[in-house]
Amino acid sequence: MRLSVIGCGYVGLVTGACLAEAGHQVMCTDIDAARIDQLKAGKVPIYEAHLDKILASAAKAENIFYTADAAEAIRFGEAIFICVGTPPRPDGSADLSAIDHVAQQIAAEARSPKLVVEKSTVPARTGIELQRALSAYSRGNGGFRVASNPEFLREGTAVEDFFHPDRIVVGVEDPAAAEQLREIYRPILERKFTCPVHPGKCPDTHKAEFLVTTISSAELIKHASNSFLALKISYANAVADLCEKLGGNVEEVTHAIGLDPRIGTQFLKAGLGFGGFCFPKDIQAFISLAATVGVDFEILKAAERVNKQRIDRFMEKINKALWVVKGKRVALLGLAFKANTDDIRFAPALEVMKRLLDEGAEVHACDPEALEKAKQQFPRAYYHQDPYQALEGSHAALICTEWDVYKKLDWERAGKLMARKLVVDGRNLYSPGKMKALGFEYVSFGRE
Ligand code: UDX
Repeated sequence: MRLSVIGCGYVGLVTGACLAEAGHQVMCTDIDAARIDQLKAGKVPIYEAHLDKILASAAKAENIFYTADAAEAIRFGEAIFICVGTPPRPDGSADLSAIDHVAQQIAAEARSPKLVVEKSTVPARTGIELQRALSAYSRGNGGFRVASNPEFLREGTAVEDFFHPDRIVVGVEDPAAAEQLREIYRPILERKFTCPVHPGKCPDTHKAEFLVTTISSAELIKHASNSFLALKISYANAVADLCEKLGGNVEEVTHAIGLDPRIGTQFLKAGLGFGGFCFPKDIQAFISLAATVGVDFEILKAAERVNKQRIDRFMEKINKALWVVKGKRVALLGLAFKANTDDIRFAPALEVMKRLLDEGAEVHACDPEALEKAKQQFPRAYYHQDPYQALEGSHAALICTEWDVYKKLDWERAGKLMARKLVVDGRNLYSPGKMKALGFEYVSFGRE
């Protein structure tokens, strides 16, 4: 099918690339003309596993095209996926101006009926407003149908998540829209694609469920799902605080509670808390949406508060261990909000970096992918690709992101390079016993 994707950020680019790889003809557009030029030249503007490979193969198969001309993209597709940003406004609610702008463009430029699909994360009832806007700006002549098709793509494993989803949710108002979306996702549902992630054979996971709901339900599913995961993380972090006070070990506790299938072991990892461009903004937008209809979503407010306190707790641990932070050289390992991405938006590490710099520390930061982005924000820090260079002469190693290379660090070697053998671990990457045996002062979360 001919498809259009508006917005070439993380979500749009992954969606466009994967749909093209699944055999559709996809035209992508973005208001950032430089980004379109980059894509046309075969350069991938973001770091996402497998994305470069599938963009190249889709281009070779002539299944993906790029244009800076929104009208051309709008006219190309039978269905249009809206993948533009919905950033938080100062009060936490979602800024929907980009969606509104795209709605006006679609209404003005479309020359045939279109299925307009919201892919961006939006508050419930946006679909209804979108339908109203399309109809108003096209003066009722467009023949537009609207659907909500939220993404559940984790950064770093987005391509894998696209090809092996747990569920595909489509919120529609008429059965024809559901059928069109089922057709779009048929290669995924029937597993008729060459998997870019698992050459040979894909693991035998259960097939994706195709769920047809109302538009408002689909919108709510996305916010409710991310908020629940954020809630789980904050719960684990609150338990970690208790463990510290009462002498428990949070890893033992969360592992045991997670073995109950009603709870599950995932997203119970205690530490510096959640960041990124989804959880912090989605939880805020959900709280704000609830408030507009008179529901006080207290449980989510608490989850958000616990998450913000993680940075305070981490700084308390650093201050307690170092005594005086001013003038100390510290190695900050990990800048991205999580491993396997170069994304530093709302990354806990950046707040840690800011506070350390404000306190007068000499920060030597390190990250496999996010150095360039961080340099622009914090030119006062020193940057290293090699963790051992960052650690040389440092009074403390501060672990902020769970990158594999940091999990596998040779601490015997690192200890010889450091001015003081102190590790404050914000991601509970190491065994306290092993670190102590290597002669380190070792501080982590929920395991004192
Ligand atoms: C999330 C959702 O998982 C995805 O389905 C959605 O569509 C987009 O938002 P993402 O933002 O890529 O994906 O990150 P995710 O892997 O969910 O992690 C979010 C944050 O939580 C990270 O900062 C991570 O470090 C933190 N986290 C995760 C924990 O602190 N503890 C955990 O146990 C799990």
